[in-house]
Amino acid sequence: MEFVELVRQRYSVRAYRACPVEEEKLEQVLEAARLAPTAANRQPFRVLVIHTKGREDELRRIYGREWFLQAPLIIGVCALPAEAWSRVDGKSYADVDASIVMDHLILAAASLGLGTCWIGAFDPAAARQVLGIPKDMEPIAFTPLGYPADQAQPKKRKPLSDLVHYERW
Ligand SMILES: Cc1cc2nc3c(=O)[nH]c(=O)nc-3n(C[C@H](O)[C@H](O)[C@H](O)COP(=O)(O)O)c2cc1C
Repeated sequence: MEFVELVRQRYSVRAYRACPVEEEKLEQVLEAARLAPTAANRQPFRVLVIHTKGREDELRRIYGREWFLQAPLIIGVCALPAEAWSRVDGKSYADVDASIVMDHLILAAASLGLGTCWIGAFDPAAARQVLGIPKDMEPIAFTPLGYPADQAQPKKRKPLSDLVHYERW
């Protein structure tokens, strides 16, 4: 799919079919995550692949919406703050890196006809407990990964004129 069209067509999928995601497609999605750029190429992230079948009750503790559990897979992106690059003023780019990774895999999924939805409103303590995430790793975002069972709604976005300033503020 042409990139601009892909960006137009991706949307937050909040209903999924139960059918499995092909192994080759999962690999392509994970490869897109691996190839994501990170600050100073530190690659301070790890990706969790979670099969939902049979784990619905514990996974529901992480994020309670029913559609979170409908897809066969959930992908989590975690940051490794100790490995991340920091700017001269101390700002860590760990979250930025993890977000780019998530966006890479989300766009790759969309290009393969798969649905995703960024989830930031998860319970981090539950995620740590249920998934055994160690202290030095920070869960940044999750997404279901599966075939959509809903349809895109028209995008609501601010006009470019509100968002972009040329040359200076
Ligand atoms: C960082 C981030 C966190 C988000 N967290 C949630 C979430 O917890 N639950 C949810 O339903 N959608 C979540 N979303 C999806 C946004 O609501 C959605 O991207 C936005 O409304 C634009 O809609 P679209 O993705 O369909 O274009 C999140 C999106 C981003 C980028």
